[in-house]
Amino acid sequence: MNVEKYYIETYGCQMNKADSELIAGMLEGFSCRSVDSPEEADIILVNTCTVRENAEKRAISRLSQFKGLKKKNPDLILGLLGCVAQRNRGKIISEKSFIDIVLGPDSYRHLPEIFNGCKFPLLDVKLSRAEVYEGIIPYRRNKINAWISIMRGCDKFCSYCIVPYTRGRERSRSLKSIIDEVKKAIDDGYREVTLLGQNVNSYKYNNYRFPDLLDAVSGVQSVQRVRFISPHPKDIDNKMLELMRDRQNICNHIHLPLQAGSSRVLKSMNRVYNQREYLSVAEKIHGYLSDVAITTDIIVGFPGEMEEDFLETLKVMDKVVFDSAFMFKYSPRPGTKAALMKDGMSEEEKADRLTRVIEKQREHTLIRNNALVGSVQEVLIEDLSKKDPKEKMGRTVTNKIVIIKEGETEIGDLVKVKIEKALGVSLFGKIV
Ligand code: 5AD
Ligand code: SF4
Repeated sequence: MNVEKYYIETYGCQMNKADSELIAGMLEGFSCRSVDSPEEADIILVNTCTVRENAEKRAISRLSQFKGLKKKNPDLILGLLGCVAQRNRGKIISEKSFIDIVLGPDSYRHLPEIFNGCKFPLLDVKLSRAEVYEGIIPYRRNKINAWISIMRGCDKFCSYCIVPYTRGRERSRSLKSIIDEVKKAIDDGYREVTLLGQNVNSYKYNNYRFPDLLDAVSGVQSVQRVRFISPHPKDIDNKMLELMRDRQNICNHIHLPLQAGSSRVLKSMNRVYNQREYLSVAEKIHGYLSDVAITTDIIVGFPGEMEEDFLETLKVMDKVVFDSAFMFKYSPRPGTKAALMKDGMSEEEKADRLTRVIEKQREHTLIRNNALVGSVQEVLIEDLSKKDPKEKMGRTVTNKIVIIKEGETEIGDLVKVKIEKALGVSLFGKIV
């Protein structure tokens, strides 16, 4: 049987998107080509996320939908990849026998075995201390920004988080291989690179730390924009901020996950900083970088979060005035420490807190974005606008979406845009 056409669907974080590009790279190496619809494919892969229960359910139900396609095409191969595969191990195959492949985040090198007549199910969920997919060339579909994964795994063990169990221990790629990949991306026409890691600033390879890597990457000729996600507040250091201040091409945006404002809750989350320390990091960032955007992640309804704790989250939001935030209701993940904590809060209470943080963030995003109205921003054009294909969509250095209503421009251009309006999470402007 020939496997010539693949279809990948990806859920979850940017790391998963980058992993799907690696997987696509491996398949392309065997002359297997990507198709846009699952109906056309010989192999369908779903790269999954299990960070919250909803994400996991969605991924599994998607795979169940594809099961129907096997009636028309009995040779169709269905694969479950990523964090859901890792968490459920082989169990999922005994429950859902239509799944042919189950590979965890460190096991993707097995995938090419499908071209050599392997036996199904193809199952591997061993975690590795070394796998960083060195030598595999990602197949990128986005032509503007190249995601470059620099480290994998997480050793922080925040009490609510499943990631250390599904992606294993922290390990970093060699500085040389990262720089080679950046150079190749630039040669291939990319203008922006985003360094990725679950804890990107915990990067450690021999004596090289994250600022050394950032220095080297931003020094590569013709790199116009360097981004990185996601750092941990505890690992933000002065050397990194100095570099961001001194290098024009390192984007002025820091994602600084807060999670909670109350020091008591932060302790129980094992976040290793308290409210005062978080605020002083945010203040330091503003001190070094005057036009920086700070974005965040917030969890509401963590076990034991009282109303007074929740008010501390709102207080920190008022102090920092984040440019944008991802906000979540706490979702217990079996196997984590927090899943054993008493979670007495009703769903209504959690939903109410979520509404309140979303409301506050909406106001803050508008405050931050309105402050840019009238200014001229450098925008990298990424795509046509979704709402109106006559308009273009791009991003500022601070990672804000800008819709360009007027002016000639092509995808991939870096242009100066006069910001005329802020609405929702977007800015609107015209080319000057
Ligand atoms: N429940 C809710 N949100 C979570 N996150 C991680 N684990 C959980 C959980 N169990 C959120 C955190 C993290 C983001 C990627 O997902 O805010 O920063
Ligand atoms: Fe999860 Fe915490 Fe690691 Fe982020 S730092 S991946 S929230 S354990």
